[in-house]
Parts: sequence; C-alpha cells; structure tokens
Amino acid sequence: MRISPSLLSANFANLEAEMKWFNQSSADWLHIDVMDGVFVPNISFGFPVLKHVARICQKPLDVHLMIVQPEKFVGEVKALGAYLMNVHYEACPHLHRVVGQIHEAGMKAGVTLNPATPVSVLEDIAADVDLVLLMSVNPGFGGQKFIPHTLEKVDALRRLLDRTGSQALIEVDGGVNLETGRQLKEAGADVLVAGNYIFGAPDPAQACEALAKL
Ligand code: DX5
Ligand code: ZN
Repeated sequence: MRISPSLLSANFANLEAEMKWFNQSSADWLHIDVMDGVFVPNISFGFPVLKHVARICQKPLDVHLMIVQPEKFVGEVKALGAYLMNVHYEACPHLHRVVGQIHEAGMKAGVTLNPATPVSVLEDIAADVDLVLLMSVNPGFGGQKFIPHTLEKVDALRRLLDRTGSQALIEVDGGVNLETGRQLKEAGADVLVAGNYIFGAPDPAQACEALAKL
C-alpha cells in the first residue's frame, strides 16, 4: 500500500527532526494540507512555510488544497516542486479547466471529494485525472473518526474508474489507522493518507511501515 503521511500532525517546532525519519521511511509521498479558513473552518500553513519544508523533504509532495479558488495557486504549488496537486470538486465550478492548468504546469492532477459528495459527479472528468482523493472525514482537522460509508464509496469509485477507462489512483484521507487501512485496502484503495496514526505514534517510522505493509 502506498502511504502519504500528513504533515498537519507533525511537530512544527522540530520539522528538521521529523523530516529526518520521514526521508528514510517507507513513506511514498508527503501529504500537505493547505487550509484557508473559508473552504474549511481552519487555517494550517501557507507557501512561505512550505518552501522550507520542500527544501528538506526528499519525497514527492502530495499537496491537498482545502481552499477556495485553488486555480490561483497552481504556480505556487508548482514552485514547491510538487508531484501532485489535489483540488476539491466542491471548490471548482470549472474543474475541467483547473485540471488542464495543473497538467500544463507539469504536475499530476487530483480531484478531492468531501464525504457528502457522491462519486458519480466524477463521471465526466474521471478519465482526465491522475488521482481521486476521497475524504473519509470532514476536512479541516486531523485526528477525526473515520466515516465507515467511505468503504462503499471506494468500491463505487473503483467501478466508475473501470467503466470510464480511467487510470486514476484512489487515495483516502482521514481517520486512517491499521484497522481502517486494512478495510480500505480490501475495498480497493491505492494510497492512504495518515496524520495522527503516524506522527502521534511512539515510533512514527514503524507506524508508517505497518501501514505500508498492508
Ligand atoms: C483533514 C486533512 C487530513 C488530516 C488527516 O482535513 O485533509 O490530511 O491531516 O489526519 P488524520 O490521519 O489524523 O485523520
Ligand atoms: Zn489531507
């Protein structure tokens, strides 16, 4: 299983130490949650901070923008050297155009769905995206409880991707631990985001490894 540990749960007073174990761990990507206090009821960190994180992180950046008008920041995300830019379906009335802008900038394009948004809205865009990120909590905070209905959404999404000929990966974000991770794998997920389960563990590298081995 591919793992994308979420920076939101890291110790920001000692990012250098966090990146030390992270760079040597079995993590595949670093998941970066940008929040604006408008699209979600919380503010996390912005590009001036992330510039320094990008400098010391040696793995591909999986950027999750929980902001309105994410298309305004394609250039900033690109400047970080990001591998993947995730925008919310709910924040993009012109999603097809945004996906095109992300690709033109040379990044992989991901579309994220909130828990209340059905996967069926992806019918006409699935073939154009590289990844679908399903939120298994309401976005805005780390450490929330996994919403079990997500398992059915993963299954429905897998069928939609097959039907539309899409190669998109399925990533799931929120409340992931060993138990929910195992269920998500069975349902058909490709990538798991985990914040608290990894960064809150006594040995984060080991927690990451346990998820990766699922
Ligand atoms: C929530 C964020 C998540 C968060 C996950 O809005 O998108 O990436 O960091 O944290 P955990 O794994 O603790 O639920
Ligand atoms: Zn996230």
